[in-house]
Amino acid sequence: MTEPLHEDIEKVLISEAEIHEMTARLAEQIEEDYRGKDLLLVGILKGAFVFMADLARDIRLPLEFDFMAVSSYGSATKSSGVVRILKDLDYEISGKHVLLVEDIIDSGLTISYLLRYLEARGPASLEICSLFWKKGEQAVPLEVKYPGFEIPPVFVVGYGLDYAEHYRNLPYIGVLKPSAYASETP
Ligand code: IMP
Ligand code: MG
Repeated sequence: MTEPLHEDIEKVLISEAEIHEMTARLAEQIEEDYRGKDLLLVGILKGAFVFMADLARDIRLPLEFDFMAVSSYGSATKSSGVVRILKDLDYEISGKHVLLVEDIIDSGLTISYLLRYLEARGPASLEICSLFWKKGEQAVPLEVKYPGFEIPPVFVVGYGLDYAEHYRNLPYIGVLKPSAYASETP
């Protein structure tokens, strides 16, 4: 491993180079599928902001952007199953081709809630692109048209993903050392 490790990271799960390769591959598929259509990327804040910025710059099509902010975790590492909308879309999506950009799918509760919520607003199409998903953890069946990496069901940080709002700026995703959780109050 050539990249410098943050002192709280036990190991790198997926490197910066691997992430960029995957981002380019996903962008290529998206480009093919949406050529000639007006595409709106909807990023799910905060986690997806890093991925969305890289993905969007790899998609050589005219794009529009919007964001939603949701909260499903608080600062703990287990999903509460409750999705709160902290920020809604700025614009109407009826008649638009919408691609939801998500960092990671764990239980799938967040994204399936958002799908139902957005579907009701009449988009021309609605698909999901998620850079990571945790194998075998989905509580609900989900069709992810643009999936990135399947990862083991462990808590990861970096590349937009946080633990208690920290580590989002690490360029890779990694697993925290147990000592980094020491201050967690469940
Ligand atoms: P879900 O509703 O269980 O699918 O959880 C999805 C959301 O939880 C993601 O958008 C992330 O913000 C957060 N999340 C899930 N797994 C992780 C993780 O391993 N690290 C950091 N955040 C995570
Ligand atoms: Mg989060």
